Amino acid sequence: MALLPIVNLPDPILRRKAKPVTKFDKELQTLIDNMIETMRDAPGVGLAAPQINISQQLAVIEYAEGEDEEEEDENAPEKPKKLYVIINPEITKVSEEKVMGIEGCLSIPGLHGEVERHEAIQVKALNRHGNPVKLKASGWMARIFQHEIDHLNGVLFTDRATRVWKPSADEEDVEMD
Ligand code: NI
Repeated sequence: MALLPIVNLPDPILRRKAKPVTKFDKELQTLIDNMIETMRDAPGVGLAAPQINISQQLAVIEYAEGEDEEEEDENAPEKPKKLYVIINPEITKVSEEKVMGIEGCLSIPGLHGEVERHEAIQVKALNRHGNPVKLKASGWMARIFQHEIDHLNGVLFTDRATRVWKPSADEEDVEMD
């Protein structure tokens, strides 16, 4: 496995609509494994192929559902992280309810933004073997899915943010993807 360099703005690949994946070969499996390793190393909760200079409809996501819940009990066991590989994804359903949250992006270091997202979504995609999957996500997981699918369409969180700012040193870290 290998770590892949993450590209930053203003690289134009981040603005391009990525092409659908058509070949589910060994090369793709290696690419996916390398993307997972790169995401974990960053560290990030998601990584889309354009962020590693590959204009294909492919993203990896790893996050523990409920990680953001405020009522979390400190003594509760850590929630297991869930890993998703989504290929040629399409959002098929969105909740009317939208929520604000603070986002960052591995490709836009040093900026935070307040972004409104659908609270829940449904996604149709292919898994790493090319089999169709349907996924439901809510809360932060839904936010991450929307952020990654945006990347595959050349859209960045700064396009959707109601405000962006350079975080101060004492500002809380945000999840990066
Ligand atoms: Ni991002």
